[in-house]
Amino acid sequence: MKIIVLIYLLILGIFSSFLFQNKTKKESINAGSEIYQDFCLQCHLSTGNGVFGVFPPLKASDYLLENTNLSIAGIKYGLKGKIIVNNEEYNGVMIRQGLDNEEVADVMNYILNEWGNETTDFITPNQVSKIPKSLVE
Ligand code: HEC
Repeated sequence: MKIIVLIYLLILGIFSSFLFQNKTKKESINAGSEIYQDFCLQCHLSTGNGVFGVFPPLKASDYLLENTNLSIAGIKYGLKGKIIVNNEEYNGVMIRQGLDNEEVADVMNYILNEWGNETTDFITPNQVSKIPKSLVE
């Protein structure tokens, strides 16, 4: 029985990674831009600057740019408690935004490549699916 489940998961994995390959980085960033307007802009603002001391910046954020997996976990599961962003302490709450793995990947690709942010990373839904909740607990 277990082996059937494993084979099923394997096939599902191969099939979905095949599907997701169809989205280019540019397409993912474009989709992420839409998600940002709907889910993130009210706090992190269109400039990506946030509100000093209240909502941390995404533009040139060392936290975001140096801890990709941690940032993914925060968006996926929510984030609360003390964090340091560009030497400023934030101790707020970002609730879980209810995005699926693909939407988290898209919005990550957007914020990692907007406002002068730059990365060669390409976040995939598969990568997002593997990020455990324990990172932000
Ligand atoms: C209701 C306000 C709010 C919304 C909406 C929101 N955030 Fe946040 N975000 C916060 C707060 C507050 C923190 C800091 C939490 C803490 O202090 O632990 C944070 C932290 C972050 C961080 C890590 C710190 C940094 O600045 O690099 C990232 C990345 C992030 N948010 C991205 C997003 C994305 C992407 C979205 C939309 C999908 C989003 N946030 C929606 C309030 C918000």
